[in-house]
Amino acid sequence: GVFIMINIIGLGYIGLPTALMFAKSGLKVVGTDYNANLIDSLKEGKLTFEENGLEDLFKEARSNGIEFKTEYQKAHTYIIAVPTPYLKDSKKLDPKYVISALNNVLDVCEKGASLIIESTVSPGTIDKYIRPEIEKRGFIVGKDVHLLHAPERIIPGNMIYELENNSRTIGADNSEIGEKVRGLYSNFCKAEIVVTDIRSAEMSKVVENTYRDINIAFANELAKICRTDNMDVYEIIRIANMHPRVNILQPGPGVGGHCISVDPWFLVGDYPDLTNLILTARKTNDSMPRHVLGRIRDIMREHDIKDISKVGLYGLAYKENVDDIRESPTLQLLERMDEHLAYGVKVYDPYVKERIVDHQFMNFEDFLNEVEIIVIMVGHDHIKNKMSLIKDKLILDTKNICLLEGSYKL
Ligand SMILES: NC(=O)c1ccc[n+]([C@@H]2O[C@H](COP(=O)([O-])OP(=O)(O)OC[C@H]3O[C@@H](n4cnc5c(N)ncnc54)[C@H](O)[C@@H]3O)[C@@H](O)[C@H]2O)c1
Repeated sequence: GVFIMINIIGLGYIGLPTALMFAKSGLKVVGTDYNANLIDSLKEGKLTFEENGLEDLFKEARSNGIEFKTEYQKAHTYIIAVPTPYLKDSKKLDPKYVISALNNVLDVCEKGASLIIESTVSPGTIDKYIRPEIEKRGFIVGKDVHLLHAPERIIPGNMIYELENNSRTIGADNSEIGEKVRGLYSNFCKAEIVVTDIRSAEMSKVVENTYRDINIAFANELAKICRTDNMDVYEIIRIANMHPRVNILQPGPGVGGHCISVDPWFLVGDYPDLTNLILTARKTNDSMPRHVLGRIRDIMREHDIKDISKVGLYGLAYKENVDDIRESPTLQLLERMDEHLAYGVKVYDPYVKERIVDHQFMNFEDFLNEVEIIVIMVGHDHIKNKMSLIKDKLILDTKNICLLEGSYKL
């Protein structure tokens, strides 16, 4: 058959844009996913999620001949970008998707192939689970196949720009193969690409997200302290940040998404005796939806509103201007309410076009007509541009984007 340069396994938020970038840069690319519906829709030219600039990139990649298949291909380079969740009880990484994708690849790969794990993994995963799996199959790593780790840093909403402009890390067993893969990524990545060992690549990725989590937790803890004694956390952070060596982040309703709220657990799971700060930060951020719930209760009491169905949550996504709802603070909040048998709260998100939760509205005006309290959970541009429409409501603004007088804050 045709010689295939790169076979990308897993065409989700990370795998798809990466595949398209490689194809755009002129390489022969086949994207493989075991989800047949997803492959069908990509073949028909339909994208499976929304992202700035993705439509244009998709067109270019298609005109460059990118293919989508459910079958794994004979290739010299594989990029594995499948999910890496954590086990809810032990908090350790669950490598089952990576291992199953790896085995499918080993069934077809050519001698000398490079297997690049792009999925985020906890430090040591590649040596503990991936390498032995390859050896079990009779392959010698470094001879029959090369094993690498190339973690991803892109943020939904700005993925295309960041794929080209973020620096990246390549973890490899030796610098020769590391340099080769650096060359490969530099087909689209214009920023610095660092080559290091696999363990350092694994650890630095998890450390980056843990750093973010801890810094967000600090801002959230300040918000709680300030609320207790009626201090303005935003004013305090603004002033503190004028100090030349202080840069406090903004508080919010919690942390969602598939990186920051997940990766620190890998360290907690693997080093339970050494992760006090990291665990506390995780718990602090996870406590924010409950804090928001407390604020909703405050406002309901103050205005003698007894009916929870008069409350509307604006935003289901985990961050502004995207449709990704995974682990989002709003979903966490709804779960909390569920535990307290508080049903009926209304929900609206302009980016989420499918009905995902109960009492979800598809039309902003209908949503507004039904509620007295609006809780801004996500700072979508959509609501920033529609503040005049909500000026007669009670507003709980967890993102500090609303300038309307009398709006409640975190
Ligand atoms: N989403 C992000 O912003 C982001 C950022 C950096 C890193 N990451 C990491 O990248 C990895 C992928 O995340 P994602 O958000 O793209 O996940 P995703 O759930 O959007 O996509 C994963 C895809 O892999 C497919 N898949 C799973 N197992 C497969 C198999 N054995 N063979 C073929 N296809 C398979 C699924 O059908 C799915 O389409 C994760 O490790 C994640 O932690 C994600």
